[in-house]
Amino acid sequence: MLYHWLYISTAKVLPRSPEDVMIYLHARNRNADLEITGYLHRENGYYTQYVEGPKNALDQLKLLINKDWRHENIRSLSEGHTPVRRFSGWDMAFTDEEISSFRAVQTRFGYEPDISKAPVQEILHFMDQAVLSGDAQSVADVA
Ligand SMILES: Cc1cc2nc3c(=O)[nH]c(=O)nc-3n(C[C@H](O)[C@H](O)[C@H](O)COP(=O)(O)O)c2cc1C
Repeated sequence: MLYHWLYISTAKVLPRSPEDVMIYLHARNRNADLEITGYLHRENGYYTQYVEGPKNALDQLKLLINKDWRHENIRSLSEGHTPVRRFSGWDMAFTDEEISSFRAVQTRFGYEPDISKAPVQEILHFMDQAVLSGDAQSVADVA
């Protein structure tokens, strides 16, 4: 059975620093093996990540992510059974505010611009749109 986990956390490393980029490399190395797919967005000092996969694999990854020193204040926004993969084919899709800004998109439509206060459905919609529009990149392509 497939499970998903969506959370938001406060980043403790600078955007595009070596420590930040390492996260994408971890995801590239591990997610395909664990049959994990998902999406990671970074904006305004927050990481927001959606991960999905078999329950055992997801539990294993959650343990690692929960104790990772590169972020803190990890807040679960949604988790549980999910009928189909949302980000099928992506080891981990990613964007940051320079590639695609949640704040800019939300402001344009008159929705909550602060990602740490936005409703789950608006965050997921943003991620879906970034994949559809071609803005999202894949950790498979990180040099
Ligand atoms: C915001 C954030 C997202 C992460 N996402 C993933 C991920 O999708 N897959 C992964 O393997 N590690 C991810 N990590 C890294 C893990 O927490 C962990 O450090 C890493 O998997 C350890 O890899 P290692 O055992 O090969 O050193 C993430 C870390 C942070 C801070």
